[in-house]
This record gives sequence, C-alpha cells and structure tokens, in this order.
Amino acid sequence: MMKKISLTGIKPTGDLHIGNFFGAIKPALELAKEYDARYFIADYHALNSMKNPKELNAVIRKVAAGWLASGLDPEKVIFYRQSSIPEVFELTTMIMAFTSKGLMNRAHAYKAAVQENNQKGDDPDAGINMGLFTYPVLMAADIILFDSDVVPVGQDQVQHIEMAQDIAQSVNANYGKPVLKVPSAAVQESVAVVPGLDGRKMSKSYGNVIPLFAPENILQKTIMRMVTNSQSVEEPKDPDTSQIFLLYKLFADNEEQSAFAARFRAGGMGWGDAKEELFRVVNCKLSPIRERFDSIIADIPALDKILEQGAAKARPIAAATVKRFRKAAGID
Ligand code: TRP
Repeated sequence: MMKKISLTGIKPTGDLHIGNFFGAIKPALELAKEYDARYFIADYHALNSMKNPKELNAVIRKVAAGWLASGLDPEKVIFYRQSSIPEVFELTTMIMAFTSKGLMNRAHAYKAAVQENNQKGDDPDAGINMGLFTYPVLMAADIILFDSDVVPVGQDQVQHIEMAQDIAQSVNANYGKPVLKVPSAAVQESVAVVPGLDGRKMSKSYGNVIPLFAPENILQKTIMRMVTNSQSVEEPKDPDTSQIFLLYKLFADNEEQSAFAARFRAGGMGWGDAKEELFRVVNCKLSPIRERFDSIIADIPALDKILEQGAAKARPIAAATVKRFRKAAGID
C-alpha cells in the first residue's frame, strides 16, 4: 500500500533553539517513519517580513543545515526550498480564482495586524503588504501542490489548513471531480512545552532561549544564567517545579533523572550545581548535532546541492498537480 503523504513547512526564522528542537523538529522528523514525508523551507513566506538579503540568505541556509544536523535524511524524504518550485506560483494564481477575498479578511494574522493599526489610530492597512494578506493562499498552494494528506501544525496554523481545505473543495466542487487533494491538519498537542531560562515557555520573543548550535562556552553561560528562586544550598528542593529539572528530563535517561531528582529532594545541592549538571547532559546530547551543523554550514555549495536534489524530486510531483488542474480548468 502506498504511504500517506505528510508535508512540513519550515519558516526560516532566527537561530534554532531547543524549544524548536523538541517542539517542532523532533516530532516532524518522526513523521518519516509512517509517512511519505516532505519538508520544505518556506523562503518566499519569509520574504514578507525579511527584507534584508544577507539576513534572509543566511537564515535559509542555517535553518536547512539545522534540520539536516538534527537528523533529516534527504535520501529518505523530500527536502527542498519553496523558491525552487515555480509551480508554487502557478498554483497560487490558479487557486486565487477560487479564494474569496472575505476568506482572507478573516485570517488571524491579517486581522491581528489590522487590529494593531486600529489601536494605534493608523490606517487599518498600514504596513500590511499583499504577501501578508494572501499568505494563506500561498500556503494552500504549498500544501495542495504536493498532494499532502496531512500537515502537522501547531494550533496557530489550523485556520490556514482549513482555508486550504476550503479552497481545494471549491475547485473540486466546480469541476465536479477530485482535481486537488483535500488536506487535513494533524494538530500537535502532546509535544513538549520546553521551559525557557525564566521558566516561561521557551520562545524567541521572550528572549529566554537556549540556542541549539551555540559553542560550548556560550551554552554553558546561557544555562548558568537561568532564573532560580532564593532557596539556600541546604534546603530540599522540588524537582517537578524547577525548570532546570524539566529541561533535564528532555536530555537525560531515566536513571539519570531519578538520581538528579533524589539530589533535589535531599537538600545540599545549590542551584549552581544543578545548572552544572544540566549543562553536562545538554552538552553531551547537543555536541554531535552541533558538530554536524558546523560541518554542514562550512560547505554551503554542498548544502545547496542537497536542496537542489530535493527540488529535482519535488518538481515532477508539482508539475503533475498543475497539469491536472490546468486540464480540468480548460487551460491545457
Ligand atoms: N505558516 C507556517 C508557519 O508559520 C509555515 C508554512 C508555510 C507551512 N507553508 C506551509 C506549514 C505549508 C505547513 C504547510 O509555521
């Protein structure tokens, strides 16, 4: 039996951190076991918000190298850049004809931007480009183009998937046959919430992240900066309410976890010692990933070749979808 198809869109933003690793990268890579898994770097989406060419160029490579270093196997899955697939734009234009403007008006990201403008007393559309406004159409094209059955997303992206469903269904209803595959969302609810340095969810916008590929000394400094309470060294501590222990659990095996928890409860371990132990396990797990990352990023032509080879696998699939649609539409 043919495997179902999963598609993961990767937005190139900033340096990857361990929240990305456990919350997004790891669960997405797991998909390759069950699905015919496809992954792409959404570089045209990123253009909406990143206008500095150097920065965008660097971030595309970094995020690609990051996923490869984390275990994405380009031989087993399809891994490509959105911008290498011109059919994305053909399909975007075609599905525009089946997308009501009202649907776009209701998109959360657009609505939030308008609301912010209104609050500031600005023109409602100030600073909003058509890329942002039509983002859901481009995303629908990303998905539909590759006959995706499931799209793993966080809760914040569910509306986008519903829009892609709406659009594919309108096309199919119009032609009275299944021209485009209607995707479904696989909402990732059970994935770990990774606590940041201050105990809140690890997020770039909170400035509380532990970077995934930082050199060892920076990693150590970052971990030593974690916020703790004023309990003394002697006091017994509760591991389950400490973000040091919660992070530790992501990296350590069961035996290490119980031993560390026992040291918390016994008292006599200060926060400084606890952080040193956390650093030890984190560094041990991240060192091989960091080394792979460093070697991938040191050879950009080789990295680009991997992405090009991925695009070469992706394009015939994309071309077939567009051809099918053009035929159904009478533009063949
Ligand atoms: N919008 C997604 C995000 O912000 C990225 C994305 C773009 C995507 N196109 C996609 C995700 C297609 C899944 C499928 O994270």
